[in-house]
Amino acid sequence: MTSKAKDLIAPYGGTLVNLVIEGDERAALLAQANAYPSVQISQRALHDLELLATGGFSPLDRFMGQADYQRVLTEMRLASGLLFPIPITLTIDKADLPTRAEWVTLRDARNYIIAVMRLEEVFRWDPKREARLVLGTTDPRHPLVPEMDHWHDLCISGELKVLNLPKYYDFVDIRRTPAEVRALLGQMGNVNVIAFQTRNPLHRIHEELTKRAAAQIEGSLLIHPVVGMTKPGDVDHFTRVRTYKALVENYYDKASTVLSLLPLAMRMAGPREALWHAIIRRNYGANHFVVGRDHAGPGNDSVGKPFYGPYEAQEMMTQYEAEIGVKSVQFQELVYLQDEGRYEETGKVPPDAKIANISGTQVRDDYLAKGKLLPEWFTRPETAEILLEAYPPRYKQGVCIWFTGLSGAGKSTIAQALTAMLLERGRQATVLDGDVVRTHLSKGLGFSKEDRDTNILRIGFVAGEIVRHNGTVICAAISPYRSTRNEARLMVGEEHFITVFVDTPIEVCEQRDIKGMYARARRGEIKGFTGIDDPYEDPQNPEVVIKTVECTPEEGAHQIVVYLEQRGFLQ
Ligand code: ADX
Repeated sequence: MTSKAKDLIAPYGGTLVNLVIEGDERAALLAQANAYPSVQISQRALHDLELLATGGFSPLDRFMGQADYQRVLTEMRLASGLLFPIPITLTIDKADLPTRAEWVTLRDARNYIIAVMRLEEVFRWDPKREARLVLGTTDPRHPLVPEMDHWHDLCISGELKVLNLPKYYDFVDIRRTPAEVRALLGQMGNVNVIAFQTRNPLHRIHEELTKRAAAQIEGSLLIHPVVGMTKPGDVDHFTRVRTYKALVENYYDKASTVLSLLPLAMRMAGPREALWHAIIRRNYGANHFVVGRDHAGPGNDSVGKPFYGPYEAQEMMTQYEAEIGVKSVQFQELVYLQDEGRYEETGKVPPDAKIANISGTQVRDDYLAKGKLLPEWFTRPETAEILLEAYPPRYKQGVCIWFTGLSGAGKSTIAQALTAMLLERGRQATVLDGDVVRTHLSKGLGFSKEDRDTNILRIGFVAGEIVRHNGTVICAAISPYRSTRNEARLMVGEEHFITVFVDTPIEVCEQRDIKGMYARARRGEIKGFTGIDDPYEDPQNPEVVIKTVECTPEEGAHQIVVYLEQRGFLQ
């Protein structure tokens, strides 16, 4: 670090944590690591571990133990009393917990050694309670809620020694640790630094926001996009980072701007997350932080209401910013004044001004989906080109049509009709029929809740891959549980997922009883049969509802074709 770097704000809690072991000690530990019991950690835990290791979460130096965890949930504070709003835990299945081991080796999904951890604490946790307290909701439309159901039942904690940081091959020149970012900012010579968090492409609005913020604090600007996990369905980071690089290269003052990537796994926790973001940025050297409209908001819940109020994150920052030492620079929503050719905050718009705005949905539906470049007042031409290239028109994009409904509701029949109608229109389609999938992909799975979920998630995984490669997939399985369907929806990406509720009353299904299953279930020969002795949870906002008592399978399939046309998935 240069001497100027000392001028930057101190890391949160005083010192920057560094858990990365090097040299001889590393070599010795690597040799031992193979002898310790292994714990394979999730992608999310790996991101968390990376930020623990490099000091992004300072002063936290381990996955939380029980005392920290409980107080963070209820009071947003570590056991020491220091404000820290988001729990950082490492979970493990009871069955995988090594007995009698002092140390375990943490490995990534490919079994590479990442770290060794002393097993100091093991404790139970409750996902519903954590969701309620941290996210303020247990609604499965919140992207973290269904994911949390699959975290394991025990949390483990203890001293960490990190032997290998995750290895990246993309944009390596702008992936920097807190110490590296501090060194760069230090060289710029400004004590004041404002950080900007984002998980979206930056348009003119954001350029305006960041430049105004930097001018306001008379300091340097840290553009700090998240490239770990964001909200499922967001623009992928490869595309986003290409746009950020072009922007910073052409439109920002190089002497006072740093673009650096943050390997954070977002929680989409709105207000609490905003505080957490600010604390993390303090560790990277920022003493100011931009909080605009709906910071880290995950969109709408099951009844169409936003999870958090648009300015709730700002209120939370106002309350705690003195304590965390990072001042927020707050903006109301910015809008474009057409006649004046400039951006202004909604609260300051002159009465008769003509306002132009393009919403996120319009960007996708009215521009990218139609192969149209975004206008220059809205985004820089470099960004417009990159986005257009990354997003082919919607009729060339992938789509998943997900049927749900009782056994015998008519899903497979309508799926068959729909497949033929799509092929006739030149769209290839793969059908993943529940019964058929159970003969290969899910062979051996039964009908317990766990097995049903596994089956649905396998279908969701395959569907996601097909859609990612711009294919069409039709899934037809009962998929009775709301939370699991939501998870499949997130695996595919909400924008590409069409829920079709085949709404046939149980009496009608039972009367039809095409496979004779209802009769057997009534006789008690089949246990856990959906609608008889296992629940079917109606979808809350299905894109299409087909009432099979009122229409033929052809009419039902046609209804979907019309919907696909409206959405632009069919030309
Ligand atoms: S976030 O999940 O990372 O918050 P996003 O990348 O969209 O999402 O936002 C980054 C930051 O810019 C947040 O502080 C957000 O509040 C702010 N922001 C985004 N769009 C606007 C807007 N139109 N007006 C005001 N602030 C905005």
